[in-house]
Amino acid sequence: MKPPAADPNMQGWYDASSLSTRLLNRSLAAVWHPCTQMKHHETLPLVPVARGEGCWLYDFDGRRYFDAISSWWVNLFGHCNLRINAALADQLGQLEHVLLAGCTHGPAVELAERLARATGGALGHCFYASDGASAVEIALKMSFHCWRNRGVPEKRRFVSLAGSYHGETLGALAVTDVALFKDIYAPLLMTSAQVPSPDWRGAAPGESARDCAIRRAHDLERHLERHHGETAAVILEPLVQGATGMAMYDPEYLRQARALCDRYEVHLIVDEIMTGFGRTGSFFAHEQAGIAPDFLTLSKGLTGGYLPLSAVLTRDAIFDAFYDDAVTRGFLHSHSYTGNALACRAALATLDIFEADGVIARNRGTAARLTAAAARLAAHPRVRHFRSTGMIWAFEVETSDPSFASHFSARALERELLLRPLGNTVYFMPPYVISDEEIALLTERTAELLDSIGT
Ligand SMILES: Cc1ncc(COP(=O)(O)O)c(C=O)c1O
Repeated sequence: MKPPAADPNMQGWYDASSLSTRLLNRSLAAVWHPCTQMKHHETLPLVPVARGEGCWLYDFDGRRYFDAISSWWVNLFGHCNLRINAALADQLGQLEHVLLAGCTHGPAVELAERLARATGGALGHCFYASDGASAVEIALKMSFHCWRNRGVPEKRRFVSLAGSYHGETLGALAVTDVALFKDIYAPLLMTSAQVPSPDWRGAAPGESARDCAIRRAHDLERHLERHHGETAAVILEPLVQGATGMAMYDPEYLRQARALCDRYEVHLIVDEIMTGFGRTGSFFAHEQAGIAPDFLTLSKGLTGGYLPLSAVLTRDAIFDAFYDDAVTRGFLHSHSYTGNALACRAALATLDIFEADGVIARNRGTAARLTAAAARLAAHPRVRHFRSTGMIWAFEVETSDPSFASHFSARALERELLLRPLGNTVYFMPPYVISDEEIALLTERTAELLDSIGT
């Protein structure tokens, strides 16, 4: 491991720039960073973050970076949000954590009740975990176990969309379809089936996004027709498939998938780990199709981006399939931090902000202003497929640079923007508290960046 060369202008340990440099070197020596080929940090510096406020991250030298991707899609109401901070400080004085097996506590109960209400009462039971991937594992295991308890153990296969992303643990990776993350581990994974994505970029000439969704639903229908006997569940990211490159699709696909799952007696797992909590314009993305899933996985924005927490909400009828005298018919899954009190309290504070500030309605205005400000980007000669859903914007950049993403990120940092393209897909997923000045800064500087980078 070769750390980057020390800053020649380093003045001494008390000098701000030396603090940054020292932190970077210590990080490269001791921390194995996620989703990273660590050797790349010989040339691409880490961003040393001293503090955050609103949409901004600050380093030790007073430089700032606009968090245009909400710190991997988790932050909703800005860094160091005073209201979430206050709730956490209050909770710290009462209870930080207690195991949730055999014990319970107020924040876990209140959060489960409020999340159930947010589904219109359709999903009355909430199982907690820590990260998105662990929620996906739980939903897959619960679906299989539910069928088994109902006397249909052969239902043990899963179907997902081409390009889907559901996390990195082995079960979640098995239903993920992003080659970069999956291929190496393929020998370790259970097999799953992928059906074509309803991504509207794949629409045939003259086909609308809705037509494309209907055509793709026929593919799902053909798959379930043949395989429903061994299929436990279909799992999908509703409306926007994030990690594959912000593929967007029409809600009609969700309506059709729901009807097909009903017809063929297959569970529908809706993974709203990215799309939940207002990201796509409604509180949950699946609301836009007027459907209710059998399982709903939530994480990321659940705590406003503060603490790791995930949840799997499910129908009472599924819960009932586990309710029995026999221990092994129960769901014996656990994580040590399941239902952590601080994380649940952060989630409650987040839900309070949604209610008090009318966030969903306010975001409509914010989204319209950002889309209007991005007109220059949408019309840029190197931009393809400019698109948006709710508070997510994405476009492809025409480039022959195989390292476009890392080069673009590095150049964006020079312009105070924290952006991490997915391949040649640039996207914005800012905190909901983005101001009009920040919208102008984000869109103008991104356009400048496109003008300045080579092809
Ligand atoms: C749709 C979806 N599911 C699951 C995950 C995995 O969540 P985590 O990274 O918290 O494990 C992600 C993460 O990006 C996601 O976007």
